[in-house]
Amino acid sequence: MYVSPQVDNGYDIADYYQIDPMFGTIKDFDMLLEEAHSRGLKIVMDLVVNHTSDQHEWFQQSRLSTDNKYRDYYIWKKGKNNQEPTNWESIFSGSAWEYDELTDMYYLHLYSSKQPDLNWDNVDMRNDIYKMMKFWLDKGIDGFRMDVINKISKAEYVDVLPQTSHYMRCSKYTSNGPRIHEFLQEMNKKVISQYDAMTVGEITACSIEQAIQYTSDYTHELNMLFQFEHNDVDSGQYGKWTPIPLDLVKLKRITEKWQIGLMHEGWNSLFWDNHDQPRIVSRFGNTSTPQYWKDSAKMLAATLHMMKGTPYIYQGEELGMTNYPFQDLEDCVDVEVFNNYKMLVLEKKVLTHEQMMKGICYSSRDNARTPMQWDNSIYAGFSKTTPWMNVNPNYHDINALSQMNNNDSIYSFYQKLIQLRHEYDVIVYGDFELLEKEYPHLFIYRRYDDKNEILVISNFTNQELIYEFNYENYEILLSNDKPVISKTFCIKAYGTYILKRKS
Ligand code: GLC
Repeated sequence: MYVSPQVDNGYDIADYYQIDPMFGTIKDFDMLLEEAHSRGLKIVMDLVVNHTSDQHEWFQQSRLSTDNKYRDYYIWKKGKNNQEPTNWESIFSGSAWEYDELTDMYYLHLYSSKQPDLNWDNVDMRNDIYKMMKFWLDKGIDGFRMDVINKISKAEYVDVLPQTSHYMRCSKYTSNGPRIHEFLQEMNKKVISQYDAMTVGEITACSIEQAIQYTSDYTHELNMLFQFEHNDVDSGQYGKWTPIPLDLVKLKRITEKWQIGLMHEGWNSLFWDNHDQPRIVSRFGNTSTPQYWKDSAKMLAATLHMMKGTPYIYQGEELGMTNYPFQDLEDCVDVEVFNNYKMLVLEKKVLTHEQMMKGICYSSRDNARTPMQWDNSIYAGFSKTTPWMNVNPNYHDINALSQMNNNDSIYSFYQKLIQLRHEYDVIVYGDFELLEKEYPHLFIYRRYDDKNEILVISNFTNQELIYEFNYENYEILLSNDKPVISKTFCIKAYGTYILKRKS
C-alpha cells in the first residue's frame, strides 16, 4: 500500500514513506494500526528493498549522470560488445538489464524493467533503508515480511550457462550472495533488535543449511522464512504455465526435508497460499463437487496446520476460495502473465494461446488477487463500485458471511485448527516423522514429544481407502468425517483425521 505506479501490484515502490492515495492516507494508516492494536491484532508491513520503482526519487536522480549522489544506489554496468552486460533473464522474462540512453549504461532489474535493483553494497543506501524501517517501527508496526530478501546481495556479474529450461535465470549469482548474512545481521543490529518486531523473509531458493543460518536464534538475522520448494512440485517443461499432476510422494519428500531440516534449529513458515500462488483448493484439492470442495479444503488445511512452523492463512483460504475462471487475457492484471504470454506464445511460440490460458487458469498469481468474498451482496461486499479485478462469480456460494456461524464450514474448521495449536504444545514444538513415505495417496505423519503424540492422516484422492493401524490407542481431535474408530476404518475421499494417542 506504499505509493506505487502499480506495475507489479505495488511491489514497485515510488515512495516508502507514503500510502498510495488509492488506498488512503498516512492518517488512515495510523488509525488502522491503532484500531487493530486495540483489538489485539498485529500489523506486519511488506518490506520491498531488493528494488524500487523506476519512479522513485533515488532512481530518477541515479539515471541523470554517473556522478550523481544516487548513482551508486542502483546497479549500473557498461554493455559488453554492444549487448547486455550478462545474459541474465528477469524473473518476469526478458533480459534482466535495461539500457538507458542518458548515460549509455544498463541497469539491473531482476523483476520488471520498472523495478530497478538497489545496490546493497552502497552503505548510504543501506542506511536510508534502515531509516525508513525505523519510521514504520516507530509508528508501532509489529514487524516486516521481507520481499525476496535473499536476493539483495549479488555475487559476480558473469554469464550463466544456457539451461535446458526456458528460464535462463541467474539465481546462482543473485540469491544468497556473499554479503547476505552480513547485511541481514547489520539490519538486525541497527534496526530490528531495537524493537519488539517479528521478521519473516521471502527466501526464493536456499538449502537447509542456509535456511538455518537465516533463521537460527544464534545468527540474529530473521525469525522465520518462506521457502518455495513445495510450490514447484507441479511445474512442468515451461514452469508453472505447463503444470503436471501432483506427485504426492514428491510433495511428502519435500515437506519431510524441511520439517526435519529445521526441526531443532531455525524456523519454518507453513503456507499453501499467498498473493503469488494460485488457490490451493483448486490446485491440490478438488472443486468438481461441493462435497469434494469442502472436504479437500479442510484436508489441505489440516495437513499443513499440524506441522512444525508458523502457519499463515491467506485471505479467503479459510473460506475455500477458488481459482478464477479466466476466459481471456483481458481478465488478467498481472505483469508476470503478460510478460510470459509475450515470451512463450508470441515470441518463442512454444505454447498456443489455449495452452497458455490453461496455465493461467491453473497457476497465475491473479487467481489469489480477486476481491475478498465477504458476503453475497454486489461485488461480494468488497466494494460498492466496480473493483479493480473481477469478483469470482462463485461468491454467492463461497463467502465469509455464510460460513462464519456454521459449525461445519471450512472457516470453522480453520478456527478449530488454530485452537488445537494453542491447546497442544506438541503441535508447536514436537518432532516430526513422516510415515508411509512411498504411499502415493495418503499423507500420514506424526508429531511427538515426551508426553504426547498426534497422528495426521489425509487422503489426497477421491477414492475411499483403508489404512491399517492400531487405532484403539487413539482418539479423534478433529476430522472432516465422523468415523467410528475401531481396528480399522474407511478413510473417505479427501478425508482428514487428526488423532491423539490416549494417555
Ligand atoms: C515477491 C512478491 C511478488 C513480487 C516480487 C517482486 O516475490 O511476493 O509479488 O512480484 O517479489 O517484488
